[in-house]
Amino acid sequence: MTDIDTKNTIDSMLQEDRCFAPPSEFVEHATINKADDLNKLYQLANDDYETFWATLAHDEIDWHTRFSKVLDSTNAPHYRWFDDGTLNISYNCIDRHLIERADKTAIIFEGERGDIQRLSYRELHSAVCRFANALRLHGVEHGDRVVLYMPMVPEAVIAMQACARIGAIHSVVFGGFSAEALKNRIEDAGAKVVVTADGGYRGNKIIPLKAACDEALSHGCESVNAVFVLKRTGEDIAMTTGRDIYWHDATKLVADDCPPEWVNSEHPLFLLYTSGSTGKPKGIQHSSAGYLLGTIMTMKWVFDAQDDDIYWCTADVGWITGHSYVAYGPLALGMTIFMYEGAPTVPDAGRFWKLCQYHKVTVFYTAPTAIRALMKAGDAYPGSHDLSSLRLLGTVGEPINPEAWMWYHRVIGKERCPIVDTWWQTETGANIIAPVPGVVVTKPGSCTRPLPGIDVAVVDESGNVIKEPNKGGYLVIRKPWPFMLRAVWGDEERYRKTYWALFNNKYYVAGDSARCDEDGYYWIMGRTDDVLNVSGHRLGTMEIESALVAHEKVAEAAIVGVPDDLTGESIFAYVVLKGDRPIDGIDENLTAELRQWVGKQIGSIAKPKEIRYADNLPKTRSGKIMRRLLRTIASGEAITQDTSTLENEAILEQLQGKQ
Ligand code: WTA
Repeated sequence: MTDIDTKNTIDSMLQEDRCFAPPSEFVEHATINKADDLNKLYQLANDDYETFWATLAHDEIDWHTRFSKVLDSTNAPHYRWFDDGTLNISYNCIDRHLIERADKTAIIFEGERGDIQRLSYRELHSAVCRFANALRLHGVEHGDRVVLYMPMVPEAVIAMQACARIGAIHSVVFGGFSAEALKNRIEDAGAKVVVTADGGYRGNKIIPLKAACDEALSHGCESVNAVFVLKRTGEDIAMTTGRDIYWHDATKLVADDCPPEWVNSEHPLFLLYTSGSTGKPKGIQHSSAGYLLGTIMTMKWVFDAQDDDIYWCTADVGWITGHSYVAYGPLALGMTIFMYEGAPTVPDAGRFWKLCQYHKVTVFYTAPTAIRALMKAGDAYPGSHDLSSLRLLGTVGEPINPEAWMWYHRVIGKERCPIVDTWWQTETGANIIAPVPGVVVTKPGSCTRPLPGIDVAVVDESGNVIKEPNKGGYLVIRKPWPFMLRAVWGDEERYRKTYWALFNNKYYVAGDSARCDEDGYYWIMGRTDDVLNVSGHRLGTMEIESALVAHEKVAEAAIVGVPDDLTGESIFAYVVLKGDRPIDGIDENLTAELRQWVGKQIGSIAKPKEIRYADNLPKTRSGKIMRRLLRTIASGEAITQDTSTLENEAILEQLQGKQ
């Protein structure tokens, strides 16, 4: 253990020394493959970051009216970028490819039951125009909000693009959310229209989307006057006369061309509600031009976008990742995306690998939670598929523990594919800290360095930059960037309080703790509200979890702090084993072994006081472990939180020792 300043910083003690240079096979074809080229980008951004972004915005976006103003900070912390320009996002994602790529496949889709669909850019254009015309016909105008509650099918992307085409603001609500969650979001957004489907397929089941929608609309939601319903499953559903209309009927008699509505750069493209584990959901509001630029640049820098790629981001369109890296970024570059509707384990844990093989996926982007689950299922699944089309792998959403990183690297990437660990948030719009894979050496568990033009720092409680390597602190962004959030919809106070107040509006506060090592590499340590304070030592939950998962018997772990008379907080670990759960969840010998193990990996201070074994951990539907809930359980308190957003609500009984 090193000398620790217990007053002002978060202590970091996880040590990871492995480094991986970009594999030569990848470097050879990468667009940015020379350190000099990347350094030049950093240099330009450092010299004058406004001109840097302005040049890219001029070059990468097709403008209707070019902008003359770059950054307007008059109303900070509400920043405006490229303010007097006008453009259309759907035009940039579709129309501009029609000259050279009209017959190129834009979307390849496979449903859980094996149905396959392909849409060329020309077909996508026509589908988007038709739906945009249908929306217009039903009174949707510039600035109106449209809530989408859809399965992961091409029509979800078509509906998003159609909204963008007419200047309507979409708000996608993840199809797994309950009727109540949907209702809250519809009401907060004041949506005029809802777009849904009769149902969607997932995990060998039909998700009754229309029924949930009906329930949501049955009490409240007065702003809604039309519901568009996509026929996906063909199940019997109730249709309310005068309000509900089938997608295929609505699009039958409209023109298949729809002139794009030119909007201001700052016009809101969408609202996306962050999954509220506590309180009211926050509607994160994004812009048009700045947001588009972020998705384009990160597709190029981080995903090395190439014309012949088959790009698969597994995220649902209900999350920010499904916005930036399914519906917008890749299409803005005229790429071919792959979409899959179902669960990764249907019919078995080899499904993702089978899809990669069959559709010849070249870039694969997923979440650590999926990687760990598939790792747990064993090497035979990936082993029996040809994964040679893959050239680049990505991860997002939570810290990836080095063991899962190594498995991804060895078993999926066969040591020939770089891994881009991308740190970002709903609020940041696109990747913020991530490697440029043809140049940057990666370290398992680190998202490496901030991208050009992004000014990231780790600061202490007084807002001073922590210069000493490996000392943890608050992760902040010190300069505005084009793809940053613009507001929390209808809640100015929350916007200021959550993101700006801590350091007096000087920095954007990410809410994560991080450390920066001697090479300038960032290591995310967890949420600042997940920081433990044990005997005056602050520890990031992720570090202890990573140590536990590095043990050969452990598949997954979650750490929470529970109040402790002696030490302030004590460490409570929930552990999922690779094998079976011990009888009654108790195994004294293994507990001693794991405590010893963590002590060895990090230091005695990090040894969990208690370990409880479970078959699974409570997760949100986007795969995040709900630590706040675990904290309640570990403290023996009654659960008062809303648990309806849990993927696996039943696990709570076991965690509470009732099973
Ligand atoms: C976490 C997802 C470590 C982090 C795009 C952040 C990560 C939150 C990473 C945002 C990563 C995301 N390494 N942690 N590569 N990526 N996170 O809004 O805590 O769903 O603040 O956006 O996920 O989650 P969100």
